[in-house]
Amino acid sequence: MRYHYKKQKYMSLRLGDIAPDFKAKTSIGDLSFHEYLGDSWGILFSHPADFTPVCTTELGRTAALQEEFAKRNVKVLALSVDGVESHQKWITDINETQDVTVGFPIIADEDKSIAHAYDMIHPNASETFTVRSLFIIGPDKKIKLSITYPASTGRNFVEVLRVIDSLQLTANYSVATPANWVEGEDVIVVPAVKTEDALVKFPKGLNIVKPYLRYTPQPNK
Ligand code: BEZ
Repeated sequence: MRYHYKKQKYMSLRLGDIAPDFKAKTSIGDLSFHEYLGDSWGILFSHPADFTPVCTTELGRTAALQEEFAKRNVKVLALSVDGVESHQKWITDINETQDVTVGFPIIADEDKSIAHAYDMIHPNASETFTVRSLFIIGPDKKIKLSITYPASTGRNFVEVLRVIDSLQLTANYSVATPANWVEGEDVIVVPAVKTEDALVKFPKGLNIVKPYLRYTPQPNK
C-alpha cells in the first residue's frame, strides 16, 4: 500500500483565515467567489463526484433547505471536479429523484485548483476525488467553521443550519450556544462580557449557575 508522507504542498485552512478567492465555471455560469458572496454568509462544500448516490441526496437536502439558507442570508455553493455539462445533467437527476429544484451553483473544478486551495483532496482517502469538506464563511470572508466527512457519510444539513444560527447569534449578540442547543433554547453569555454589563445587555435576565456559566434567553426570540 502506498501512503503519502511527503511534505504537504497545500496548507490546510484554519478558522479565522480568509477563504481563498477564486474564479470558477459553475452550473449557473462563471463567477468570482468573493464578489458572488457580497455581504452574505457563504457555504462552500465539496462532493467526491457527480452521479453518486450519497452526493445526490446531499444536494437534494440542501436544495430542500434553500429558503432556510436564504432567510439567514447564506449563499450556498457546491463543488466537484466534474465539468459543467455533467453538473447540468446531474442536476436534472437530482431535481427528479429528490423532488427539488437545485437553485445554487455547482462549481466545475476540473483542474482541481479550488479543491487544492481548500485542501479538499486527501490523498490517503482518494488521490482523485474530493472528500466531503464544508466551510462556513462569514460576511468578512473569514472561515467560521470547517468540517470533513468521508465519502461514505452524508452530512446533516439541519446541523449546518444550527451552526449558522449559533454563529449569527455570536456575531450579533455576544452569546455562545451550549451543547446540543437548538433554536429557542437559552444561550450562554460569553466570558468576555462582565456580569454587570450582561445584566444591562440582556434585559430578559440571567441565570447565573456559576460565575463562568451564565445563561440568558435567546436574545432574538
Ligand atoms: C457517494 O456520493 O455516494 C459516494 C461517493 C464515493 C464513495 C462512496 C459514496
